[in-house]
Amino acid sequence: METLTLTIDNKEIKARRGDTILKAAQDAGIYIPALCDDPDLEPTGGCRLCMVQIDGVSGYPPSCMMTVGENMVVRTTTPEIHQMRCDALQLVFRQHPRACIECWRRERCGPDDICLRNVQVTDRCVNCPRNYRCELQKAADYIGLKQMTLPYSYRSEPLITNNPFYFRDLNKCVHCTRCERVCREVRGVMAIDTAGCEFGGILGPAGRKPVVDENCISCGACVSKCPVGALHLKDDDRPEREVRTICTYCGVGCGVKLGVTGNRIVSVWPDKENDVNRGYLCVKGHFAIKDMVQHGQRLTSPLVRRGERFVAAGWDEALALVASRLERYTGEELGVISSSKCTNEDNYVAQKFARAVLGTNNVDQCARL
Ligand code: SF4
Ligand code: SF4
Ligand code: SF4
Ligand code: SF4
Ligand code: FES
Repeated sequence: METLTLTIDNKEIKARRGDTILKAAQDAGIYIPALCDDPDLEPTGGCRLCMVQIDGVSGYPPSCMMTVGENMVVRTTTPEIHQMRCDALQLVFRQHPRACIECWRRERCGPDDICLRNVQVTDRCVNCPRNYRCELQKAADYIGLKQMTLPYSYRSEPLITNNPFYFRDLNKCVHCTRCERVCREVRGVMAIDTAGCEFGGILGPAGRKPVVDENCISCGACVSKCPVGALHLKDDDRPEREVRTICTYCGVGCGVKLGVTGNRIVSVWPDKENDVNRGYLCVKGHFAIKDMVQHGQRLTSPLVRRGERFVAAGWDEALALVASRLERYTGEELGVISSSKCTNEDNYVAQKFARAVLGTNNVDQCARL
């Protein structure tokens, strides 16, 4: 891929031909506020926060729509840009709760503190599941918008709770359409429709039926893409730390980021850096890992039958018992059933063990069921 050289905010950087200016800036560690863009989705240029100035180009093009050029000179922080970003944000905050941006106690309050302000319960920053993890909040902080001049009007939309895995809070939707685009462009499902929504953003099938009543496969991609607290997981807390690991539900081995507090998993998000899944999970990986791992009846050691009961045993004891029982049979009397939840490597070892050690070709695995 051809590499180009350009300058952003007086910093010379390299970028691949075809990259947008926004992507080139992000790759070079330069932050440009951007609410509607996502590297996986076709850009729409809707939010107008990512606008820049380019030498020799008139106007203020959105950097998510402009591709890089050789020797291009880009500015992201001029006074004109700052003013236009403030104006664009003000429009967003006309119908978006703003306590988490304006409140002077924000730095002091934690997630469990009681709000001292006289604002509606739904508007309090401590009540927003994305507080401190929100792209709008980050953009407003970066731009430095602290006080709004336009009045706020609450949409009074009821919280939609009919999806088993996530809430939809239309009061916080910023109309970025990322949810609709990821569902259509990446998942190919088209369970989200923007038509018929009086606010022009999200949302779900006509008539506001539960999304799962349509063709939704509950992959959670729309939730992962939502930049604000409009789509949020029902079972998700802000964690003390994050652990990158692998989903164990099947042999695909998708990367997940587990949010951990103490020794409990409190959140599960897809890992964008993992080349296997690149930020996407299926319904099991996104919504079932936490319950499965922390379920009280989960087996955490081998069980050996003693009389009518199964009792916990060590691996040495369990393997010795299995080996002694296998010795009673030979060749075609034996069969080995492996699991689609194992990795390819584990399944390879299982069939090798069956053929080379046990001497049987009776090998199968549960995916055929
Ligand atoms: S979605 Fe973001 S900006 Fe809106 S209330 Fe929540 S944290 Fe604040
Ligand atoms: S969960 Fe997946 S399939 Fe369902 S609406 Fe969201 S993106 Fe579409
Ligand atoms: S629900 Fe979220 S992702 Fe969908 S349009 Fe609204 S803000 Fe964007
Ligand atoms: S169960 Fe789903 S999320 Fe987990 S590894 Fe398989 S495909 Fe990926
Ligand atoms: S991110 Fe470029 S216009 Fe929204």
